[in-house]
Amino acid sequence: MVYQVYPRSFKDSDSNGVGDLRGITSQLDYIRSLGVDVVWINPVYRSPNDDNGYDISDYRAIMSEMGSMADFDALLQGLHQRGIKLIMDLVVNHSSDEHRWFQQSRSSRDNPYRDYYHWWPVERGPPPKRWSFFDEEGSAWRYDSTTRAYYLHYFSRKQPDLNWENPRLRREVYAIMRFWLDKGVDGFRLDVIPFISKDTTFPPLPDEYGGDYVAYYAKGPRLHQYLREMNREVLSKYDLMTVGEGGGVSVDDALKFVAEDRQELQTFFQFEVVDRWGRRPGNFLYSDSSNRSLPALKGIFTKWDSVFATSGWGTVFLGNHDQSRMVSRYGNDTPPYRKVSSKMLHTLLLTMRATPYIYNGDEIGMANIRFTDIGDYRDLMTINYYNRLEREGGDLQEFLAAQAEVSRDNGRTPMQWTADTNAGFTRGPPWIRINPDYRTVNVAAAERDTSSVLHYVRRLIRLRKSEPVLVYGRYRLLDQGNPEVFAFTRSLSGRTLMVALSFSQAGGRTGLPAGYSAGKILISNLGRSPVRGAQLVLQPYQAVVLELKRK
Ligand code: GLC
Repeated sequence: MVYQVYPRSFKDSDSNGVGDLRGITSQLDYIRSLGVDVVWINPVYRSPNDDNGYDISDYRAIMSEMGSMADFDALLQGLHQRGIKLIMDLVVNHSSDEHRWFQQSRSSRDNPYRDYYHWWPVERGPPPKRWSFFDEEGSAWRYDSTTRAYYLHYFSRKQPDLNWENPRLRREVYAIMRFWLDKGVDGFRLDVIPFISKDTTFPPLPDEYGGDYVAYYAKGPRLHQYLREMNREVLSKYDLMTVGEGGGVSVDDALKFVAEDRQELQTFFQFEVVDRWGRRPGNFLYSDSSNRSLPALKGIFTKWDSVFATSGWGTVFLGNHDQSRMVSRYGNDTPPYRKVSSKMLHTLLLTMRATPYIYNGDEIGMANIRFTDIGDYRDLMTINYYNRLEREGGDLQEFLAAQAEVSRDNGRTPMQWTADTNAGFTRGPPWIRINPDYRTVNVAAAERDTSSVLHYVRRLIRLRKSEPVLVYGRYRLLDQGNPEVFAFTRSLSGRTLMVALSFSQAGGRTGLPAGYSAGKILISNLGRSPVRGAQLVLQPYQAVVLELKRK
């Protein structure tokens, strides 16, 4: 089980309003108390922070706001002393434009670092259209007058794409990986890894890709060659874990990345769940609450489970630093339902056949802050798109209403530790506003309240650890078309457990599978048993894991 820590927002130790490494180290007993095995931290390398650390200017140094290398070593040691592993974010599709390589690369056309990046000389005419995810003007090519050429940046103009065609660049990346592994880190989460290989002739974008450029940017022609090389040169030489950010990876080619005999990665995140639920198709900057079908969601989970039934291994998450809060999106964050629906969603995460990722703050049921003023936003994606709309005369109110539901900043507000000033996160001015619900939603209150989400999550984690059937057991979906209840079984060595989850304020009902009767309830988020003979009658957002007995 992995716990994701967003360092900028976890805990500030030096009162500059930004979370830091010492802050994380000060909370290691809390992290251990959850019962997780691994911590993943978002980038803490030196960075001008155009994209909160995903723009790295020195891969072997720590960002000054986060502390020093000694602080990093202390964090790693503290985790290891507690039996917890640490995985780092590896961001090597692009660097910062302030990285020495780019400074060199842009300085002249014959600089030895020129080919570390993708350049399009002006005499070839305008570069073929490529869209940027973050750029205010929309284009992923940026003109640089020093050498009269455009450089490629899929993300912001301060995040030039690295050129993986160049073997020198690849060797640099492998050396960076070895630097951290030799320090003792236990693996990597590989940022936008399917994007590293590109067709460097840059053919025109085919019409059928429409706005879905992830599908086109991912999985370039030499991707698997590079991943195998990375495995051979680095990964295979260490005892470690890898998880790729698998944007654009589909069920059809999933195993190419993670089947054991391919010798590439171990796991990746698939984005079908978070990209589809509550989002406008083809444009994830907008929400669409009508696009929330539980049968469709079940279909996605079930399809992905079957991909890894005999080979490879999956992951499951509902929140991270690029998503709005899990309870606000998939549950119900209004006061009567926040706790119960948070618990229900954790029950899903911890009963699937895949490695569960818990995002910091979800374990206390943190909810969307829903900014209404553009001035409160810190995420360049929201700000740049807003500026673009403003220039083009687009509908700013509609955009802000959508961002209140789906912006990444919803998931980035500071961790709520106590009911004190600034939620106990910092003694300085926080870098982003704190959700005012911290007075009731905070770790200290959750520790005192035995019915809190936090206590329930700890129990769930203990349950999963004590029940191999929840980790390895075969998964079978029940009652597929039921619009209110997600129900499935997990079976291993003659034992079968049933998981039933109400995704509805109306509760819901479902039947036990034929040939079984209900046995013991292993965990539930509500006191009352839902079992009525062969039926389960669930209260709003009720979750239950029960033993099934053969009749
Ligand atoms: C990944 C990260 C995201 C970042 C982007 C560019 O999607 O998760 O936070 O903005 O890559 O590095």
